[in-house]
Amino acid sequence: MRSFLGRDILSLKEFERNEFFRIFEIAKELEPIARNRRNSDMLAEKTLVTAFYQPSTRTRLAHEAAMHRLGGHVTGFADAKMTRAGDFYQESIKDTVKMLEFYGDVIVMRHFQQGAPQEAAKWASIPVINGGDGWGEHPTQILTDLYTVLQEKGRIDGLNWLAVGDMRMRTMHSLGYALTQFDCPITFVSPPEMSLTPEFKTELQQYSLDFSEAEHVEQAIGKADVILVEPVVQPDYTKSRDEREGDADLTPPNYKITRELLTTKAKSDAILLHSLPRMDEIPADVDITHWSRYWQEAFNGVVMRMALLALILGATE
Ligand code: CP
Repeated sequence: MRSFLGRDILSLKEFERNEFFRIFEIAKELEPIARNRRNSDMLAEKTLVTAFYQPSTRTRLAHEAAMHRLGGHVTGFADAKMTRAGDFYQESIKDTVKMLEFYGDVIVMRHFQQGAPQEAAKWASIPVINGGDGWGEHPTQILTDLYTVLQEKGRIDGLNWLAVGDMRMRTMHSLGYALTQFDCPITFVSPPEMSLTPEFKTELQQYSLDFSEAEHVEQAIGKADVILVEPVVQPDYTKSRDEREGDADLTPPNYKITRELLTTKAKSDAILLHSLPRMDEIPADVDITHWSRYWQEAFNGVVMRMALLALILGATE
């Protein structure tokens, strides 16, 4: 298995099956620190640099919380508008990371341009974690989701997945790549204009993923062990910021997971994931059903980033 020490985490396409399980093993070991709301000193000598060119609640703060839980330090920016990358100068990624590498020991970057973290990794002498790049990928989110499945179901192999949302989204790309390493058939449900791109389908076929597509969640929810939902009403992920004007559209029933649908059609032991933020695709009354696991997923988001930071920065092998 390749070492995680000093490694960039840019894509799950690069991940091997045993590497997933190694991260999950470390996450399990570190979980009590977060569960007991304690901080350790494992990364007391290390600093995380956050470089966020697009809004985030979970990804940035979960990385920061993880660093604090491990006794490390955090610096960086949550809004590139307050840096030279976001003003008159439009400073390049190269010039920016050639600065950031002196301010810390690992960078987590979110960017509206697909491939920006890869560009950063090309120039930085410290590891770069992709915190979501345009339509590209969101590897740490899907690592969190798979870890949540392992925790909640006791296994990953042999589970049927249903993924609902915009299949052009970065989370869906990371999910597709990740599931190629497991025995997990998956059905994708999306509006036609948000369906899997031909290029991505070809890749998934090349990697032998067992996948199908359906038009309505009702057609696939009955056999699903894991239901992963993302919005179909969402901002433009290729913009640095997309303000909403007026009321948002409503999610069509085809892409919505309601309490009634779960009660009448879902397996009673299925689990429901959503990386959040959500619109109306999962109404709030689903939160207190026995299917919902998105709050556990949020907790696991901190634990997963603890594991990644500990491995990348050499606190554990
Ligand atoms: N799940 C996720 O990426 O959330 P944020 O956009 O808040 O980071």
